[in-house]
Amino acid sequence: MRKPIIAGNWKMFKTAGQAVFLVQDLEPLLDGVKDVEVIVCPPAIALKSVSTVLEQDKPLVALGAQNMHWEEEGAYTGEISPTMLLDLGVKYVIIGHSERRQMFCETDETVNKKVKSALAHGLIPIMCCGETLEQRESDQVANVIGGQVAKGLAGLTDEDVAGMVIAYEPIWAIGTGRTATPEQANDTCGLVRETVRQSFGDAADAVRVLYGGSVKPDNVDSLMATSDIDGALVGGACLDPESFARIIRFNA
Ligand code: 13P
Repeated sequence: MRKPIIAGNWKMFKTAGQAVFLVQDLEPLLDGVKDVEVIVCPPAIALKSVSTVLEQDKPLVALGAQNMHWEEEGAYTGEISPTMLLDLGVKYVIIGHSERRQMFCETDETVNKKVKSALAHGLIPIMCCGETLEQRESDQVANVIGGQVAKGLAGLTDEDVAGMVIAYEPIWAIGTGRTATPEQANDTCGLVRETVRQSFGDAADAVRVLYGGSVKPDNVDSLMATSDIDGALVGGACLDPESFARIIRFNA
């Protein structure tokens, strides 16, 4: 059985101080929650303050970053390295989010470098993939998603892939309030898994595949009831402690 993951991607919201309040408001709402991994991914400047709060309290909630560079150090102005993330208590790192691919020139090649580096440093990558509306409407989902997944995972071992997380986030569903139907989301998460199986065999049964794109308290249960969706990568709804807690308590 794959353990579900509910991860919150805070994107560019919350100062370091506000981030602490959000986590402190969230934690009491999670009493009794078990059998699910909860991840919060605040902006880089808030990782330290959130880490301090989490260390004292609930080991249920793990810390994730939203991006990283693949090198350990160097003249890369504005970048953050895997060793810097580890130093702050970060366990997961989102890699290749569509916003980074679309606005910050990330490619399948840089995604692959980052995934390899994360794994080499003991961080768990949450590698993102997703198609545009135009690509979906012209029947290119299998090509696009298959390509992103295969290229992002190139050169990894079965063991590497079994331990990581892949998030399928259709671009047309991100921040739009337009969620993929459970069938669409499950079919494409299944496609991700089958792409993994082609190169990494049984690792496909272990890798966790998340769905992201307008996941809310009122649609999480039906998404999580499907066969191939192992969790959610939540944007907007994770900024409100009550709604994120309800999503974490899916099927409650
Ligand atoms: P929304 O939940 O706001 O659609 O964002 C999804 C997302 O991009 C998470 O990484």
